[in-house]
Amino acid sequence: MIHEAPQRNLALDLVRVTEAAALASSRWMGKGDKQGGDLAAVEAMRFSFNAIDIRGVVVIGEGEKDDAPMLYNGEQLGTGNGPAMDVAVDPVEGTRLLAFGRPNAIAVVALAPRGTMFDPGPGFYMQKIAVPAQARDHVDLTAPVGVNLKQIANALGKSVDDLVVFVLDKPRHKSLIQEIRQAGARIQLHTDGDVAGALMAVSPEGDVDVMMGTGGTPEGVLAAAAIIAVGGEMHCRLDPQSDQEKENLVRAGYDLNRVLTVKELIQSEDVFFAATGISGGTFLQGVSFTGQGALTRSVVMRGRTGTLRRIESLHSFDKLMRISAIKYT
Ligand code: FBP
Repeated sequence: MIHEAPQRNLALDLVRVTEAAALASSRWMGKGDKQGGDLAAVEAMRFSFNAIDIRGVVVIGEGEKDDAPMLYNGEQLGTGNGPAMDVAVDPVEGTRLLAFGRPNAIAVVALAPRGTMFDPGPGFYMQKIAVPAQARDHVDLTAPVGVNLKQIANALGKSVDDLVVFVLDKPRHKSLIQEIRQAGARIQLHTDGDVAGALMAVSPEGDVDVMMGTGGTPEGVLAAAAIIAVGGEMHCRLDPQSDQEKENLVRAGYDLNRVLTVKELIQSEDVFFAATGISGGTFLQGVSFTGQGALTRSVVMRGRTGTLRRIESLHSFDKLMRISAIKYT
Protein backbone atom coordinates (compact mmCIF):
# COMPACT_ATOMS: atom_id res chain seq x y z
CA MET A 1 0.00 0.00 0.00
CA ILE A 2 1.30 3.48 -0.85
CA HIS A 3 1.20 6.10 1.89
CA GLU A 4 1.79 9.71 0.96
CA ALA A 5 2.00 12.93 2.91
CA PRO A 6 -0.85 15.27 1.95
CA GLN A 7 0.11 17.26 -1.12
CA ARG A 8 -0.82 20.71 -2.27
CA ASN A 9 -4.41 20.97 -3.50
CA LEU A 10 -4.19 23.43 -6.36
CA ALA A 11 -7.99 23.59 -6.52
CA LEU A 12 -7.87 25.63 -3.30
CA ASP A 13 -5.76 28.19 -5.15
CA LEU A 14 -7.88 27.94 -8.29
CA VAL A 15 -11.02 28.97 -6.45
CA ARG A 16 -9.60 32.47 -6.08
CA VAL A 17 -9.43 32.63 -9.88
CA THR A 18 -13.05 31.58 -10.39
CA GLU A 19 -14.21 33.85 -7.56
CA ALA A 20 -12.48 36.83 -9.18
CA ALA A 21 -14.08 36.03 -12.55
CA ALA A 22 -17.51 35.60 -10.98
CA LEU A 23 -17.27 38.82 -8.94
CA ALA A 24 -16.15 40.88 -11.91
CA SER A 25 -18.66 39.47 -14.40
CA SER A 26 -21.68 39.39 -12.09
CA ARG A 27 -21.93 43.19 -12.43
CA TRP A 28 -23.05 42.49 -16.02
CA MET A 29 -25.96 40.26 -15.06
CA GLY A 30 -29.08 41.03 -17.05
CA LYS A 31 -27.44 43.90 -18.94
CA GLY A 32 -27.99 42.14 -22.26
CA ASP A 33 -24.26 42.38 -23.11
CA LYS A 34 -22.65 38.96 -23.61
CA GLN A 35 -19.23 40.37 -24.48
CA GLY A 36 -19.09 42.83 -21.55
CA GLY A 37 -19.57 40.12 -18.91
CA ASP A 38 -17.17 37.75 -20.65
CA LEU A 39 -14.45 40.38 -21.00
CA ALA A 40 -14.69 41.33 -17.30
CA ALA A 41 -14.33 37.65 -16.34
CA VAL A 42 -11.46 37.00 -18.78
CA GLU A 43 -9.46 39.95 -17.43
CA ALA A 44 -10.08 39.01 -13.78
CA MET A 45 -9.16 35.38 -14.46
CA ARG A 46 -5.99 36.19 -16.39
CA PHE A 47 -4.86 38.55 -13.63
CA SER A 48 -5.61 36.19 -10.73
CA PHE A 49 -3.72 33.31 -12.36
CA ASN A 50 -0.54 35.35 -11.73
CA ALA A 51 -0.68 34.27 -8.07
CA ILE A 52 -0.73 30.54 -8.78
CA ASP A 53 2.50 28.55 -8.70
CA ILE A 54 2.17 26.57 -11.91
CA ARG A 55 3.69 26.57 -15.36
CA GLY A 56 0.30 26.58 -17.05
CA VAL A 57 -0.56 26.57 -20.73
CA VAL A 58 -4.15 27.10 -21.91
CA VAL A 59 -5.12 24.07 -24.00
CA ILE A 60 -8.88 24.47 -23.63
CA GLY A 61 -9.76 28.10 -24.07
CA GLU A 62 -13.03 29.40 -25.37
CA GLY A 63 -14.11 32.17 -27.62
CA GLU A 64 -13.21 31.12 -31.14
CA LYS A 65 -16.65 29.61 -31.78
CA ASP A 66 -18.50 32.74 -30.68
CA ASP A 67 -15.81 35.27 -31.52
CA ALA A 68 -15.75 36.19 -27.81
CA PRO A 69 -12.99 37.69 -25.67
CA MET A 70 -10.79 34.80 -24.61
CA LEU A 71 -7.84 33.31 -22.87
CA TYR A 72 -5.95 32.08 -25.92
CA ASN A 73 -4.90 28.51 -26.56
CA GLY A 74 -1.17 28.44 -25.95
CA GLU A 75 -1.32 31.37 -23.53
CA GLN A 76 0.91 30.84 -20.48
CA LEU A 77 -0.66 31.25 -17.06
CA GLY A 78 0.70 31.12 -13.52
CA THR A 79 3.92 32.31 -11.91
CA GLY A 80 6.11 30.12 -14.09
CA ASN A 81 7.20 28.09 -11.04
CA GLY A 82 5.79 24.74 -9.99
CA PRO A 83 4.28 21.87 -11.98
CA ALA A 84 3.72 22.03 -15.74
CA MET A 85 -0.05 21.94 -16.24
CA ASP A 86 -2.64 21.95 -19.01
CA VAL A 87 -5.24 24.61 -18.24
CA ALA A 88 -8.90 24.55 -19.29
CA VAL A 89 -10.88 27.74 -18.72
CA ASP A 90 -14.33 29.09 -19.25
CA PRO A 91 -14.44 32.51 -17.57
CA VAL A 92 -18.21 32.68 -18.10
CA GLU A 93 -19.80 29.33 -18.94
CA GLY A 94 -23.20 30.53 -20.13
CA THR A 95 -22.56 34.05 -21.42
CA ARG A 96 -26.19 34.36 -22.59
CA LEU A 97 -27.42 33.12 -19.21
CA LEU A 98 -25.48 35.95 -17.58
CA ALA A 99 -26.55 38.55 -20.15
CA PHE A 100 -30.22 37.75 -19.54
CA GLY A 101 -29.98 37.04 -15.79
CA ARG A 102 -30.90 33.37 -16.18
CA PRO A 103 -29.61 30.76 -13.70
CA ASN A 104 -26.48 28.60 -14.00
CA ALA A 105 -23.86 30.97 -15.44
CA ILE A 106 -20.62 29.87 -13.73
CA ALA A 107 -16.89 30.63 -13.88
CA VAL A 108 -14.90 27.40 -14.37
CA VAL A 109 -11.25 26.30 -14.43
CA ALA A 110 -9.54 22.91 -14.52
CA LEU A 111 -5.89 21.84 -14.35
CA ALA A 112 -4.24 18.55 -15.31
CA PRO A 113 -0.61 17.53 -15.86
CA ARG A 114 0.92 18.84 -19.09
CA GLY A 115 -0.12 16.90 -22.18
CA THR A 116 -3.02 14.98 -20.62
CA MET A 117 -6.06 16.96 -21.86
CA PHE A 118 -7.81 15.98 -25.10
CA ASP A 119 -7.21 18.60 -27.76
CA PRO A 120 -10.41 18.95 -29.82
CA GLY A 121 -8.53 20.89 -32.54
CA PRO A 122 -11.04 22.48 -34.91
CA GLY A 123 -13.98 20.68 -33.26
CA PHE A 124 -16.44 23.04 -31.59
CA TYR A 125 -19.18 20.54 -30.70
CA MET A 126 -19.48 17.10 -29.16
CA GLN A 127 -22.37 14.80 -28.34
CA LYS A 128 -22.42 13.93 -24.64
CA ILE A 129 -24.13 11.71 -22.10
CA ALA A 130 -23.24 12.18 -18.42
CA VAL A 131 -24.43 9.96 -15.58
CA PRO A 132 -23.79 9.47 -11.84
CA ALA A 133 -21.32 6.88 -10.49
CA GLN A 134 -23.89 4.07 -10.04
CA ALA A 135 -24.69 4.20 -13.78
CA ARG A 136 -21.13 4.60 -15.02
CA ASP A 137 -20.97 1.18 -16.72
CA HIS A 138 -24.46 1.41 -18.17
CA VAL A 139 -24.16 4.05 -20.90
CA ASP A 140 -23.57 3.53 -24.59
CA LEU A 141 -23.56 6.59 -26.81
CA THR A 142 -24.10 4.40 -29.88
CA ALA A 143 -27.29 2.77 -28.48
CA PRO A 144 -30.79 4.28 -28.84
CA VAL A 145 -31.84 6.92 -26.28
CA GLY A 146 -34.57 4.68 -24.84
CA VAL A 147 -32.12 1.82 -24.26
CA ASN A 148 -29.70 4.12 -22.43
CA LEU A 149 -32.47 5.55 -20.24
CA LYS A 150 -33.71 2.07 -19.32
CA GLN A 151 -30.21 0.92 -18.37
CA ILE A 152 -29.47 4.08 -16.41
CA ALA A 153 -32.79 3.85 -14.55
CA ASN A 154 -32.06 0.20 -13.63
CA ALA A 155 -28.59 1.10 -12.39
CA LEU A 156 -29.99 3.92 -10.24
CA GLY A 157 -32.79 1.70 -8.90
CA LYS A 158 -35.44 3.97 -10.42
CA SER A 159 -38.02 3.65 -13.14
CA VAL A 160 -37.50 5.56 -16.40
CA ASP A 161 -40.45 7.81 -15.46
CA ASP A 162 -38.50 8.97 -12.38
CA LEU A 163 -35.47 10.14 -14.37
CA VAL A 164 -34.81 13.82 -15.00
CA VAL A 165 -32.73 14.48 -18.12
CA PHE A 166 -30.91 17.80 -18.63
CA VAL A 167 -31.05 18.87 -22.30
CA LEU A 168 -29.98 22.11 -23.98
CA ASP A 169 -33.00 23.71 -25.64
CA LYS A 170 -31.59 23.83 -29.18
CA PRO A 171 -33.23 23.03 -32.55
CA ARG A 172 -30.66 20.24 -33.06
CA HIS A 173 -32.20 18.39 -30.11
CA LYS A 174 -35.74 18.10 -31.54
CA SER A 175 -35.56 14.36 -32.11
CA LEU A 176 -33.54 13.73 -28.90
CA ILE A 177 -36.30 15.43 -26.89
CA GLN A 178 -38.96 13.35 -28.69
CA GLU A 179 -37.09 10.14 -27.94
CA ILE A 180 -36.66 11.03 -24.25
CA ARG A 181 -40.38 11.82 -24.00
CA GLN A 182 -41.29 8.59 -25.77
CA ALA A 183 -39.16 6.64 -23.30
CA GLY A 184 -41.16 8.27 -20.50
CA ALA A 185 -38.40 10.23 -18.75
CA ARG A 186 -38.81 13.80 -17.57
CA ILE A 187 -36.81 16.69 -19.04
CA GLN A 188 -35.23 19.91 -17.80
CA LEU A 189 -34.70 22.17 -20.82
CA HIS A 190 -32.03 24.83 -20.38
CA THR A 191 -31.06 27.40 -22.98
CA ASP A 192 -27.34 27.10 -22.12
CA GLY A 193 -24.83 25.76 -19.64
CA ASP A 194 -24.08 22.07 -20.10
CA VAL A 195 -21.12 22.12 -17.68
CA ALA A 196 -23.62 22.89 -14.92
CA GLY A 197 -25.85 20.20 -16.49
CA ALA A 198 -23.09 17.58 -16.27
CA LEU A 199 -22.24 18.64 -12.69
CA MET A 200 -25.89 18.32 -11.70
CA ALA A 201 -26.10 14.87 -13.32
CA VAL A 202 -23.05 13.38 -11.61
CA SER A 203 -23.44 15.10 -8.28
CA PRO A 204 -25.22 13.06 -5.58
CA GLU A 205 -27.14 16.12 -4.38
CA GLY A 206 -28.31 17.23 -7.85
CA ASP A 207 -31.93 17.01 -9.03
CA VAL A 208 -30.87 15.80 -12.47
CA ASP A 209 -30.04 12.15 -13.28
CA VAL A 210 -28.64 12.38 -16.80
CA MET A 211 -27.27 15.06 -19.13
CA MET A 212 -27.74 14.36 -22.83
CA GLY A 213 -27.15 16.18 -26.10
CA THR A 214 -24.63 18.13 -28.10
CA GLY A 215 -22.71 21.05 -26.60
CA GLY A 216 -19.28 22.66 -26.77
CA THR A 217 -16.01 20.68 -26.78
CA PRO A 218 -14.30 22.95 -24.19
CA GLU A 219 -17.28 22.38 -21.90
CA GLY A 220 -16.85 18.60 -22.39
CA VAL A 221 -13.21 18.65 -21.22
CA LEU A 222 -14.03 20.93 -18.27
CA ALA A 223 -16.88 18.68 -17.16
CA ALA A 224 -14.59 15.64 -17.51
CA ALA A 225 -12.24 17.10 -14.87
CA ALA A 226 -15.08 17.36 -12.36
CA ILE A 227 -16.36 13.88 -13.21
CA ILE A 228 -12.90 12.34 -12.71
CA ALA A 229 -12.94 13.90 -9.24
CA VAL A 230 -16.45 13.10 -8.03
CA GLY A 231 -17.08 9.88 -9.96
CA GLY A 232 -19.68 9.26 -12.61
CA GLU A 233 -19.07 8.94 -16.34
CA MET A 234 -19.50 10.91 -19.51
CA HIS A 235 -19.24 9.55 -23.02
CA CYS A 236 -18.59 12.04 -25.80
CA ARG A 237 -18.21 11.99 -29.58
CA LEU A 238 -17.21 14.88 -31.84
CA ASP A 239 -20.39 16.15 -33.50
CA PRO A 240 -19.59 18.88 -36.05
CA GLN A 241 -22.50 21.22 -36.69
CA SER A 242 -21.39 22.54 -40.09
CA ASP A 243 -19.77 21.11 -43.23
CA GLN A 244 -16.77 23.33 -42.61
CA GLU A 245 -16.27 22.05 -39.04
CA LYS A 246 -16.58 18.47 -40.27
CA GLU A 247 -14.13 19.02 -43.13
CA ASN A 248 -11.61 20.65 -40.77
CA LEU A 249 -11.83 17.75 -38.33
CA VAL A 250 -11.49 15.07 -41.01
CA ARG A 251 -8.56 16.91 -42.58
CA ALA A 252 -6.88 17.13 -39.16
CA GLY A 253 -7.22 13.33 -38.79
CA TYR A 254 -9.95 13.13 -36.13
CA ASP A 255 -12.12 10.00 -36.05
CA LEU A 256 -15.72 11.23 -35.89
CA ASN A 257 -16.98 7.82 -34.72
CA ARG A 258 -14.66 7.56 -31.74
CA VAL A 259 -16.43 7.56 -28.38
CA LEU A 260 -14.36 9.23 -25.67
CA THR A 261 -14.75 8.48 -21.97
CA VAL A 262 -13.69 10.92 -19.24
CA LYS A 263 -10.38 9.03 -18.94
CA GLU A 264 -9.69 9.73 -22.59
CA LEU A 265 -10.74 13.38 -22.31
CA ILE A 266 -8.19 13.81 -19.50
CA GLN A 267 -5.57 11.09 -19.20
CA SER A 268 -4.73 11.65 -15.54
CA GLU A 269 -6.37 11.42 -12.15
CA ASP A 270 -4.28 14.31 -10.94
CA VAL A 271 -6.87 16.94 -11.90
CA PHE A 272 -8.06 20.03 -10.08
CA PHE A 273 -11.38 21.77 -10.72
CA ALA A 274 -13.00 24.93 -9.40
CA ALA A 275 -16.28 26.66 -10.29
CA THR A 276 -18.01 29.71 -8.84
CA GLY A 277 -21.66 30.63 -9.39
CA ILE A 278 -22.30 33.93 -11.16
CA SER A 279 -26.00 34.27 -11.90
CA GLY A 280 -27.52 31.87 -9.39
CA GLY A 281 -28.90 28.37 -9.83
CA THR A 282 -29.78 25.22 -7.99
CA PHE A 283 -26.30 23.71 -8.11
CA LEU A 284 -24.34 26.89 -7.32
CA GLN A 285 -25.86 30.08 -5.99
CA GLY A 286 -24.71 33.25 -7.72
CA VAL A 287 -22.88 36.32 -6.47
CA SER A 288 -24.86 38.37 -3.97
CA PHE A 289 -23.82 41.89 -3.05
CA THR A 290 -24.06 42.79 0.61
CA GLY A 291 -23.51 46.55 0.55
CA GLN A 292 -19.99 46.23 1.97
CA GLY A 293 -18.88 43.49 -0.38
CA ALA A 294 -20.14 40.26 -1.87
CA LEU A 295 -20.75 36.60 -1.16
CA THR A 296 -19.58 33.92 -3.60
CA ARG A 297 -20.32 30.21 -3.63
CA SER A 298 -17.93 27.74 -5.22
CA VAL A 299 -17.09 24.08 -5.54
CA VAL A 300 -13.53 22.80 -5.62
CA MET A 301 -12.54 19.25 -6.46
CA ARG A 302 -9.37 17.19 -6.53
CA GLY A 303 -9.14 14.12 -8.72
CA ARG A 304 -6.72 11.99 -6.70
CA THR A 305 -8.72 12.17 -3.47
CA GLY A 306 -12.22 12.70 -4.88
CA THR A 307 -12.80 15.47 -2.36
CA LEU A 308 -15.51 17.98 -3.26
CA ARG A 309 -15.54 21.11 -1.14
CA ARG A 310 -18.18 23.79 -1.14
CA ILE A 311 -16.70 27.18 -0.31
CA GLU A 312 -18.69 30.24 0.62
CA SER A 313 -16.56 33.39 0.70
CA LEU A 314 -17.34 36.85 1.98
CA HIS A 315 -15.38 39.52 0.10
CA SER A 316 -14.85 42.96 1.62
CA PHE A 317 -14.71 45.58 -1.14
CA ASP A 318 -13.40 48.21 1.21
CA LYS A 319 -10.22 46.21 1.83
CA LEU A 320 -10.02 44.60 -1.60
CA MET A 321 -10.18 47.88 -3.48
CA ARG A 322 -7.18 49.17 -1.53
CA ILE A 323 -4.96 46.43 -2.97
CA SER A 324 -6.64 44.85 -6.01
CA ALA A 325 -6.05 45.87 -9.60
CA ILE A 326 -9.38 44.24 -10.52
CA LYS A 327 -12.29 46.66 -10.27
CA TYR A 328 -15.01 44.93 -8.27
CA THR A 329 -17.13 47.97 -7.40
P1 FBP B 1 -20.93 30.10 -23.76
O1 FBP B 1 -20.44 30.20 -22.37
O2 FBP B 1 -19.83 30.15 -24.74
O3 FBP B 1 -21.99 31.12 -24.00
O4 FBP B 1 -21.52 28.63 -23.91
C1 FBP B 1 -22.77 28.28 -23.42
C2 FBP B 1 -23.19 26.96 -23.97
O5 FBP B 1 -24.58 26.79 -23.75
C3 FBP B 1 -22.44 25.77 -23.40
O6 FBP B 1 -22.86 25.39 -22.11
C4 FBP B 1 -22.72 24.71 -24.43
O7 FBP B 1 -21.79 23.66 -24.36
C5 FBP B 1 -22.62 25.52 -25.71
O8 FBP B 1 -22.93 26.87 -25.36
C6 FBP B 1 -23.55 25.09 -26.79
O9 FBP B 1 -23.28 25.84 -27.93
P2 FBP B 1 -24.41 26.57 -28.81
O10 FBP B 1 -25.05 27.65 -27.95
O11 FBP B 1 -23.63 27.14 -29.95
O12 FBP B 1 -25.38 25.53 -29.20
